[in-house]
Amino acid sequence: MSTADRYAVAGNPVEHSRSPLIHAQFAQQTGQAVDYGRLLCPLDDFKAHIRAFAAQGAKGCNVTVPFKFEAFELAARRTPRAELAQAANTLRFDDQAQGGWLADNTDGVGLMRDITVNAGVALAGRRVLLLGAGGASAGVLGPLIEARPAEIVMANRTVEKAQAIVERHATFAAQHGVKLSARGLQEAGEAFDVFINGTAASLGGSGVPVGPQVLKPGALALDMMYGPAAQVFLDWARSHGAIARDGLGMLVEQAAESFALWRGVRPDTEPVLAHMRAQVDAARPH
Ligand code: ATR
Repeated sequence: MSTADRYAVAGNPVEHSRSPLIHAQFAQQTGQAVDYGRLLCPLDDFKAHIRAFAAQGAKGCNVTVPFKFEAFELAARRTPRAELAQAANTLRFDDQAQGGWLADNTDGVGLMRDITVNAGVALAGRRVLLLGAGGASAGVLGPLIEARPAEIVMANRTVEKAQAIVERHATFAAQHGVKLSARGLQEAGEAFDVFINGTAASLGGSGVPVGPQVLKPGALALDMMYGPAAQVFLDWARSHGAIARDGLGMLVEQAAESFALWRGVRPDTEPVLAHMRAQVDAARPH
């Protein structure tokens, strides 16, 4: 029997997830005994499934769509960034003596690290457009505020959804000296230094729903998706003179933050991102 500590990515669907491959590389690199798999959870029975996984001795899990909100509810304790997001992508099954299960959300800090370290783009003092007001965008807004850009505009087709998220973050934004507002797509504004797309892959059919005036020349335009799901956005960004970036770096960085939370050691993401990039490029139709 393996003595490795068990973890998994929980979702539905979850077959496509590259997280097991990423965590296997982290474990090897850091010499940690980690066994990381996939956990397909029924749509109507996520919580029981996770409790059973923990009861088998597992130490924690990542959580992906559509369960990030339920994962947040499951935990006895939540990090401040999970609290702001009201969603969790990471659970650590701490026992009662330690205070019970801990929920974290590493998506935002992963994205910030990809932008500032991997892409080398500073956020402090810049103007940022965040498109979308679903779980993905809500999950990154807190860490984005912590990076202290001058301004963040959250633009969404349904402006009320963006308004609710912005309201929840208003005090936090004020504390960090960040001007934060919610807008509809028509009023998104123009000449942003950084444009982050947090809308669903469903954009594929309908194209990018804001005009190229949102981009400052040489802006960074980043889609949280990667592979075919990001292609429409990346092509659009390049054709309008932006630096286009997909969500693969964010994926690897959020995984590294989860790994660090569980194991107390942060892996070196650079070789892992290079490996994942080669895989995604190889899978691209020529
Ligand atoms: P997730 O949790 O992955 O972010 P979601 O909650 O379904 O997914 O949110 C999807 C986001 O993409 C929303 O911001 C949605 O806009 P609405 O809030 O108005 O629904 C946005 N979105 C999806 N399809 C879109 C489209 N064709 N044009 C503009 N925005 C779109």
